[in-house]
Amino acid sequence: MAKEKKTVYFCQSCGYESSKWMGQCPGCREWNSFVEEKIERSISAKAKKIDANVTKLSAIQLKEEERISTDMPELNRVLGGGIVKGSLVLVGGDPGIGKSTLLLQVCRNLSKQKFQVLYISGEESLQQIKIRAKRIGEFTDSLLLLCETNLEIIQEVIRRERPAVVIIDSIQTMYSENVSSAPGSVSQVRESTGVLMQIAKGMGITVFIVGHVTKEGVVAGPRVLEHMVDTVLYFEGDRHASYRILRGVKNRFGSTNEIGVFEMRSEGLREVENPSEFMLSGKPEGASGSVVACSMEGTRPILLEIQALVCHSNFGIPRRTAAGTDFNRVNLLMAVLEKRLGMSLSACDAYVNIAGGIRMNEPAIDLGIVLAIVSSHKEIAIDEKTICFGEVGLSGEVRAVSMAEQRIQEAKKLGFEVCILPQVCLETLSSASGIRLIGVKNVREAVQAIRGL
Ligand code: TYD
Ligand code: MG
Repeated sequence: MAKEKKTVYFCQSCGYESSKWMGQCPGCREWNSFVEEKIERSISAKAKKIDANVTKLSAIQLKEEERISTDMPELNRVLGGGIVKGSLVLVGGDPGIGKSTLLLQVCRNLSKQKFQVLYISGEESLQQIKIRAKRIGEFTDSLLLLCETNLEIIQEVIRRERPAVVIIDSIQTMYSENVSSAPGSVSQVRESTGVLMQIAKGMGITVFIVGHVTKEGVVAGPRVLEHMVDTVLYFEGDRHASYRILRGVKNRFGSTNEIGVFEMRSEGLREVENPSEFMLSGKPEGASGSVVACSMEGTRPILLEIQALVCHSNFGIPRRTAAGTDFNRVNLLMAVLEKRLGMSLSACDAYVNIAGGIRMNEPAIDLGIVLAIVSSHKEIAIDEKTICFGEVGLSGEVRAVSMAEQRIQEAKKLGFEVCILPQVCLETLSSASGIRLIGVKNVREAVQAIRGL
């Protein structure tokens, strides 16, 4: 087999391949992202003989997917019910967010269930892993460790040991001798993932891959990585806050809008079973500009506190910031208030924040943002036992949102006494007891409702 050496240019952000350098990537419109890489391609002398058979859909036998429980309900939920045998899972996140810690805890739980687990680290020494493991707790002997970055060697070890689960920490440090470019480059990452995929599918081994994230928030190296794997999970959170959120972005074996909430402790990650309680801890009492809203994350309602501070602006152009939610959405909602309620917000600075540093983008928190702004601007303190949800439209109408029943249940569970919700949702509800429901048609009625409490 002859080998052909070729120089190609890859876009480092989307993996676009080109034979010449370009200033702007035609694929993702990123500037100055092309990097030269040398690749070797084997050209076989004659065309390969093809023998591929087609199958009828009815002839395929359906097997129950084999799932392994990780003993962490929060992680199981995001994975869609547990680890699927032979799947490839990418765990992305900022450096230092806790990816290695999470996966080491998974290793511990699996090795307790007597599964053979192989943890391959390209970043840390065995000593460093041992120090982390000591903080996390007891491990059994079915966890094996390897410090290696050469994929050919890794492949050999996996073939020899045949573990049930392999962890690769991280994909950016792995390299294959078949590709001459540096570890972390597009072609290396792609090649390495390809090899790992063959291992996963061919031998029925579940492979977890750790991927670092760039400052733009995507997995460093190519997007192609996301297309190749079965499941993509992002581990996010404020490094200064102790909680972490694991979010499913892609999942071939389950729903993607589930989240798992964890708290970083000195002894590793602990699961947070009741995120609402966690998010609401420390909520001020009797302060204006603070309201509790409800957002659905997958099948789970999460209550969160929305804060707003509206004050007179000292400059010609008012300052506005939105932390934890969409900036443009906040501007839009302020414009709605200005137009529909005649509030003069154009000369006011406005700062909107979702307490706790969590990010929520569900439209159902619109009403919460609106009420927080009104509360701060008009100095009306909203009753602490009140919660609200609803989407706000451009004409100031409060629109229906899904799963009103679940949201109200969650509010009741946490001792809330009043719920402001879209009138349309109220009409479809079967009578709820233990909580007062106030249906509103538009923002004006919502503001009247908080004044009347
Ligand atoms: P790590 O898992 O190394 O992050 P990643 O692999 O995503 O880069 O997590 C590192 C951080 O977690 C570090 O700042 C220390 C903190 N940590 C704890 O607070 N408690 C612990 O028990 C452990 C193991 C780490
Ligand atoms: Mg790490």
